[in-house]
Amino acid sequence: MAHTIAVIAGDGIGTEVMPEGIRALEAAAKRFALDLEFTIFEFGSCDYYLEHGQMMPDDWFEQLKDFDALFYGAVGWPEKVPDHISLWGSLIQFRRRFDQYVNLRPCKLMPGIESPLAGRKPGDIDFYVVRENTEGEYSSIGGKMFEGTEREVVIQETVMSRTGVDRVLKYAFDLAQSRPRQKLTSATKSNGISITMPYWDERVAEMAKAYPDVAVDKFHIDILTANFVLHPDWFDVVVGSNLFGDILSDLGPACTGTIGVAPSANINPEGNFPSLFEPVHGSAPDIAGKGIANPIGQIWSGAMMLEHLGHADAAQAIVDAIEAVLAEGDMKVLTRDVGGQGTTESLGRAIAAKIKS
Ligand code: NAI
Ligand code: MG
Repeated sequence: MAHTIAVIAGDGIGTEVMPEGIRALEAAAKRFALDLEFTIFEFGSCDYYLEHGQMMPDDWFEQLKDFDALFYGAVGWPEKVPDHISLWGSLIQFRRRFDQYVNLRPCKLMPGIESPLAGRKPGDIDFYVVRENTEGEYSSIGGKMFEGTEREVVIQETVMSRTGVDRVLKYAFDLAQSRPRQKLTSATKSNGISITMPYWDERVAEMAKAYPDVAVDKFHIDILTANFVLHPDWFDVVVGSNLFGDILSDLGPACTGTIGVAPSANINPEGNFPSLFEPVHGSAPDIAGKGIANPIGQIWSGAMMLEHLGHADAAQAIVDAIEAVLAEGDMKVLTRDVGGQGTTESLGRAIAAKIKS
């Protein structure tokens, strides 16, 4: 049966790395006899906004909801459209309406890429950050009183529901159980945030009972960020609330080198709605149009998409190909951000060729 994939390249380098993402997926499809059906959408980009006055058509939900997955490039072009309009009019809509309550980011140090952490080599850093993506600290409950006066008061409430906490914890525990180290770390701050964070800890302890094979530990977010830098080798699966996960899911990939290689997924694990796969980076206006963007973040996101669609072997073949090309270190092939002189296309083609073989 065909997997239907909605493709939205978006803005800037999104339009340059997307063809390489598709090239890699097509190579994997060929090798593993998968049937991938791509449908390209123009909306969800700033050019679309300039033409139509909105980021997406009114019926975007209807148009996209029955796809198996969304493959996104990057959105945003602050000179043309303010970021709060472009991001809130596209990505944030997908995350909310498609109930993509898991944000997943692998943090893996790849060969040939220098970690900003001294002395770290491939194998030392290989973990996932699982972020709760729908509630927590990023709520719209709160308000302002006495605005503009001496008595001005602002309040924004953290919202944690049992359903919301348990479902993301279940995802994280399942992931930890599936990995060789079977280790889960929870981000907390129950010493300072004295109602919601002890609740989070309680739910972690409760969920842990169902996963006797998974070793569980927890750190307060402050020392946890320090340990990402000091001891990245301690971690396997790290789970956090929306705010803590947001911080960790930028810090983790940053510890593994260039932003150009990091992938991410916004997942609705039940498959009631399509999940979304995209590189961590944005549209990079500073290098857009030059053909020098690193396509690995996009390609690796494609691998995460295949894994989500049930093709772990094809996903692994893509990640292996990325690692092999990086390890070879051919300067004519690699892009500048990883020390080469090649182009988006040269690196994309080299990876696709490895996937085929
Ligand atoms: P950015 O990620 O686009 O760029 C940050 C820096 O990293 C730039 O110097 C860029 O040249 C470099 N870089 C990024 N991707 C690269 C790649 N594949 N290869 C080589 N170098 C790369 O972040 P920035 O500049 O803060 O944001 C630009 C626009 O992108 C804004 O409109 C922002 O809102 C949007 N954005 C969108 C995201 C998304 O679609 N999920 C995520 C982050 C930003
Ligand atoms: Mg962030």
